[in-house]
Amino acid sequence: MEKTVQLYEGKAKKVYATTDENCVIVDYKDDATAFNGLKKGTIAGKGSINNRMTNMMMQLLEKEGVPTHFVEELSDRETVVKKVSIIPLEVIIRNISAGSFSKRYGVQEGIVFEQPTIEFSYKNDDLGDPLINEYHALALKIATREEIDTIKAMAFKVNEVMKTFFKGLGIDLVDFKLEFGKVADGTIVLADEISPDTCRFWDSETHEKLDKDRFRRDLGGVEDAYQEVFKRLTGNM
Ligand code: TMP
Repeated sequence: MEKTVQLYEGKAKKVYATTDENCVIVDYKDDATAFNGLKKGTIAGKGSINNRMTNMMMQLLEKEGVPTHFVEELSDRETVVKKVSIIPLEVIIRNISAGSFSKRYGVQEGIVFEQPTIEFSYKNDDLGDPLINEYHALALKIATREEIDTIKAMAFKVNEVMKTFFKGLGIDLVDFKLEFGKVADGTIVLADEISPDTCRFWDSETHEKLDKDRFRRDLGGVEDAYQEVFKRLTGNM
């Protein structure tokens, strides 16, 4: 399959059309942003780690019955995925308090929840991805009731699979953000990426942060954290 024209350039990825009208090629960049693009930087090697990690997770999830957009890894940074229309909802699951949850509700980070939480943001950079609930999403015609129910069920399933998988690597899955898309026939599939950019990972023993919070919060050791997660994933400890 050949790349044709560039369709889109986002903060962390470029998307190209291909010779197959049902597929696009995603090209992962080393660029990193935070706070809706206010903070900018580069994380050396991130593009390749996020591409390969996302593809490993998508394949694991497919095996566990979660449909995804994944088609084929082309290279270190490039992957063929199904062309989808992205549902403009950021779906956030949390197992442990951190980040905006702790800030919004005035609680410390690290409280282990008895049950995971779910929340939605309206994916809209101009508005700063505001938090919305299901009724708002229905009112704005972002998704139907049926689609929202499907997305919720898929997101909780992803959480169960990933929580168990990362526990086996000595990593606590604190929280993460998912995006979903619709293929031509309307089927909802998991899209976007699953990486240290979009998940919080804490070492189970030391609680060291192994994710993009090291960049967001200027903690140093950003590249090392991404590499550590990837090393555990590929088993070269
Ligand atoms: P939050 O605590 O800042 O709301 O973040 C929750 C999770 O979502 C965390 O794992 C990081 C991820 N996330 C993104 O993937 N993209 C974003 O733009 C934001 C704000 C968070």
